[in-house]
Amino acid sequence: MAGNGIFAEILDGDVFKYYADGEWKKSNSGKSVPIVNPTTRRTHYKVQACSQEEVNKVMEAAKAAQKLWAKTPLWKRAELLHKAAAILKEHKAPIAECLVKEIAKPAKDAVTEVIRSGDLVSYCAEEGVRILGEGKFLVSDSFPGNERTKYCLTSKIPLGVVLAIPPFNYPVNLAVSKIAPALIAGNSLVLKPPTQGAVAALHMVHCFHLAGFPKGLISCVTGKGSEIGDFLTMHPAVNCISFTGGDTGISISKKAGMIPLQMELGGKDACIVLEDADLDLVAANIIKGGFSYSGQRCTAVKVVLVMESVADSLVEKVKAKVVKLTVGPPEESCDITPVVSESSANFIEGLVMDAKQKGATFCQEYRREGNLIWPLLLDNVRPDMRIAWEEPFGPVLPVIRIGSVEEGIHHCNASNFGLQGCVFTKDINKAMLISDAMETGTVQINSAPARGPDHFPFQGFKDSGIGSQGVTNSINMMTKVKSTVINLPSPSYTMG
Ligand code: G3P
Repeated sequence: MAGNGIFAEILDGDVFKYYADGEWKKSNSGKSVPIVNPTTRRTHYKVQACSQEEVNKVMEAAKAAQKLWAKTPLWKRAELLHKAAAILKEHKAPIAECLVKEIAKPAKDAVTEVIRSGDLVSYCAEEGVRILGEGKFLVSDSFPGNERTKYCLTSKIPLGVVLAIPPFNYPVNLAVSKIAPALIAGNSLVLKPPTQGAVAALHMVHCFHLAGFPKGLISCVTGKGSEIGDFLTMHPAVNCISFTGGDTGISISKKAGMIPLQMELGGKDACIVLEDADLDLVAANIIKGGFSYSGQRCTAVKVVLVMESVADSLVEKVKAKVVKLTVGPPEESCDITPVVSESSANFIEGLVMDAKQKGATFCQEYRREGNLIWPLLLDNVRPDMRIAWEEPFGPVLPVIRIGSVEEGIHHCNASNFGLQGCVFTKDINKAMLISDAMETGTVQINSAPARGPDHFPFQGFKDSGIGSQGVTNSINMMTKVKSTVINLPSPSYTMG
């Protein structure tokens, strides 16, 4: 149970504590932030509303702890990460329970998220040992005008304090995808979890606490974005921000100043279906890609662009699968569960009503109860409809019929987003040409978009983000290159 057993010390009455200086603490603000269960629409948990003064203390501790951590041998950093990963996986049940209650993640997917997170932490420890254990050795005589009088040694050193801001849809996995690379690279880490998902994140942080990381190295501050959001992202002690979420990331980028940023801000992933595609495979991937976690994934299929000649057949196949999706509470691991908030449900409904008014074909009747929206496929969507461009982050999927592949590529590239996309065809040559033409960070051939496996590079173009993630890229991004040049009094050539 959440807040019980080994997790009892993170709870004070009915409010979860925040984590600073190696301890679980109550905020001096005396205030808390309620977390509403998307299914019941009632307050389920409460977390501390930390103050700016408390953020300042966390940053001071993070700076001090980082100095010592950077001097901790790499193998020891890796050892602690492996320990944290094991504790996390051992205690997957209470953490998954939080995900079910805070963000209505289907129970089976909630457990998967925690296990995947433990695996990511371990992989990161191993990868860090490999890539941070190596540097470069350069000699000067490769550049015109130079003799071999200079030897340059480069290594990767930590940035300092990394601020991690994960989104509600993966509050554990997208937190550890920032925490683990930061720590293995010798940084300290301040986590600001999303409000919905904060309790799962606090439980995850406790696993790191139990693993025995030094005091102050990891902190987790909860509270209102309006009070501590800008204060955190503009804090002078922060040396790097890794953010996943919505377009708040654009304003963070503008305010953050001269520090490295890693941003993933959503997508409108297109699924281009050619005439020769295996339509059963496409339909299965549209269901998985468009409707898993009720479409609340940055990498969800968010628009299907299908060749007119196969569109009727594909729509029939998808419709047949949509009726089989189970709709209901996350506790029962239903396929479709309530979306995260009432405002999110209202936004989705706005897109649906706009499409209705402009003449889209409803393959199912639109149905909503509270935050629960039944899966909906909208056929014959046209570019003048909002749903053709905006991301619903819900179980509603538009189908646009195209007359040529070029039309599909044009629609994909006209989007402000450029996260992922996919193309279905049996012709690998065509697939490669289309992949090259699509302005997205990743193109999947014959499968739905997805971030994982978590060591693959993951990046968005345009408004979808900056920087590249995935274990190796994140470790590299959270370091800077340091050179030492040995200057010789006279040229020295190997073997004489
Ligand atoms: O930010 C990425 C997330 O929304 C999707 O991740 O693993 O479901 O593809 P995944």
